[in-house]
Amino acid sequence: MTSTLHRRGTAGAPPPATPAASAQGDAGQVAAETAGAPLPFERTRRLRATAARRALVRETRLSPAQLVMPLFVVPGRARREPIASMPGQERLSPDLVVELAADLAALGVGGLMLFGIPTEKDPRGEAAADPDGPVPEALRQLRAADLPLVLAADVCLCEYTTHGHCGIVVGDRIDNDATLPQLANAALAYASAGAEIVAPSGMMDGQVATLRAALDAVGQTEIGILAYASKHASALYGPFREAADSTPAFGDRRSHQMDPANSREALREMALDAAEGADILMVKPAITSLDLLARARQRFDLPLAAYQVSGELAMLEAAAAHGWIDRRRTGLELLTAIARAGADVILTYLARDAAAWLAEERSR
Ligand code: PBG
Ligand code: ZN
Repeated sequence: MTSTLHRRGTAGAPPPATPAASAQGDAGQVAAETAGAPLPFERTRRLRATAARRALVRETRLSPAQLVMPLFVVPGRARREPIASMPGQERLSPDLVVELAADLAALGVGGLMLFGIPTEKDPRGEAAADPDGPVPEALRQLRAADLPLVLAADVCLCEYTTHGHCGIVVGDRIDNDATLPQLANAALAYASAGAEIVAPSGMMDGQVATLRAALDAVGQTEIGILAYASKHASALYGPFREAADSTPAFGDRRSHQMDPANSREALREMALDAAEGADILMVKPAITSLDLLARARQRFDLPLAAYQVSGELAMLEAAAAHGWIDRRRTGLELLTAIARAGADVILTYLARDAAAWLAEERSR
């Protein structure tokens, strides 16, 4: 109750219905009061009048340090392959990953999430745990470069299986428990190559507990787990599957990824992953999970992450390419909304551009 209206109304002194008051911009109020019925309203616009005032009271401040850039790593050297449905994103060989990482670090980006595309796939996704695979190789080179970036590796089988499924297929089903040891082997390979965080994304039950136990058993107690805790079976992963060559050859992912209609189940998944030892809880896709972020923020004290997925990027890029929306303003608005809803960490293909935009805004 800070309005002049309130002060006037209760002080007992009648408001000065004078031209001076009108000149101060109180014309509507004066008119109402003269009529004997002061309208109770507050002037929220005061704090919006200048850029400096808006900056002073801004509630959500995006920082490059909270952004994580997902990268697709291919074997070899000097390999750079554009991804058609993700304009501006490329599959890179480890040497070029290091080059890009140096740029990202210079911009203050917080970390990297690595996905690997192997030379050889097989039904069991054995290449996921190959110590000479693209992800371990990139991790070793990144470690050697000693950049101020958090190095995270995605742990799933779908980029490594011939059928594109996230686990071991038996008949027409994905065998949860047969998949867990494969995930553990992959996580161990990434941890020994230099990953600081492993991120199981396959929505297998018990994957977080399995990884925690496997890491602890070999003394890798400092490696963190970022759990893809609430992952909906979303139509927005399409461009990623093109990038990672991981489209399921038959069926879909609905037997393990969650029904997008469910939110209580999402919170249950998050509670289970927290109990299994996750260090960070993630929701995905981001823009369709803002309600989950807001509710999770109330319920959990763990850091929360959100993944702005490939389809979210594709929508932005396509509309911007048509000139239908402003890429930069829309990009920052989307990221800000994700942070406002409760995300501490945001995985986004816009990490580099957003970091550059934020630096520019600061220097203005
Ligand atoms: C693999 C994985 C996927 C994504 C992250 N990890 C694809 C999927 O589940 O099909 C999607 C990321 C994106 O769309 O940007 N399990
Ligand atoms: Zn997968």
